Amino acid sequence: MIEAIDITKYYGDFPAVTGLNFSVEQGEVLGFLGPNGAGKSTTMKILTGFIPPSSGTAKIAGYDIVEQSLLARRHIGYLPETVPLYEDMVVSDYLSFMGQIRGMSSSQLKKRIDEVVELCRLEEYRDTIIGKLSKGYRQRVGISQAILHEPDVLVLDEPTIGIDPIQVVETRQLIKNLGEEHTLILSSHILPEVSMICDRVIIIHEGQIVAVDDPSNLGTSLSGIERVEIEVKGPNREMLPVLEKVKGVQSIERIPVTGGAYHRYHITVDIGQDLRHDLAKTVVANGWELLKLQSLGMSLEEIFLRLTIEEEQLPSPLGEAS
Ligand SMILES: Nc1ncnc2c1ncn2[C@@H]1O[C@H](COP(=O)(O)OP(=O)(O)OP(=O)(O)O)[C@@H](O)[C@H]1O
Ligand SMILES: [Mg+2]
Repeated sequence: MIEAIDITKYYGDFPAVTGLNFSVEQGEVLGFLGPNGAGKSTTMKILTGFIPPSSGTAKIAGYDIVEQSLLARRHIGYLPETVPLYEDMVVSDYLSFMGQIRGMSSSQLKKRIDEVVELCRLEEYRDTIIGKLSKGYRQRVGISQAILHEPDVLVLDEPTIGIDPIQVVETRQLIKNLGEEHTLILSSHILPEVSMICDRVIIIHEGQIVAVDDPSNLGTSLSGIERVEIEVKGPNREMLPVLEKVKGVQSIERIPVTGGAYHRYHITVDIGQDLRHDLAKTVVANGWELLKLQSLGMSLEEIFLRLTIEEEQLPSPLGEAS
């Protein structure tokens, strides 16, 4: 339903996104996850025909977004990062205006506005001036205009950003419902949000795709990361190089402890390895005192951070020498 083919976009000589390839099946809900400046909005603007790519293209429902822009755009509903709402227009007039621009007839519009207003829970506000609405309700107006012409593809750019927690919950539910009847791409920098709503997640960082998986797999398959927390009494300088040499250890991070006469480390180990036995044996064999040894899970947030942190910004494997 959506196909991104080698999309690259330069702003001047700055490459905002490079060589993006992915596709979204009909009915699928895809999460586009990445930190600020990753290139999420740029990609969405290209997919919706809002800006042209520097090279590459996208196909929406089989239509090329560059070559057959009008046909492709008929299939798309788009909620941009900042919705261009007319502050002094009443909600229903705004929707009617947006529908007319898209060539909908007035009888079609009358029926459809009733439907979208109900779907987006805007019944009470249909005669309210947009300028008076809270951010969450404005966002609903934005979503209403996106679905107005009954597109089969929805592209929502950070639909829950900046709205209060109660409205976030309601808006996520609304998006989830929309996902049942549409092919949907949603961008976010909130991992739990994407896991909650999406069938599949693309993680984008510095304009490139760094991972693609379904949310439940992200935790295990991607990273190959498991961690162990260990607390040991002994000389830090001697222990670190020895623990590092235990087979299966990827890296060691020293966690500062206040007031304790011991050291705490978080040890990242190869996936599927239970190194607790080997670590304990090493500690004891060297005459140090083992106070604690525990497996730590790796949360999706941590994986995300790890995926999107620069290599050189990762904590030094040796921590700080003491
Ligand atoms: N019109 C523009 N001119 C120049 N640079 C731009 C322009 N729009 C975006 N950029 C740059 O391109 C990169 C990607 O921006 P983009 O808005 O696509 O990121 P994003 O993932 O949507 O970020 P955010 O989470 O902050 O919305 C950023 O470094 C940004 O500064
Ligand atoms: Mg953005």
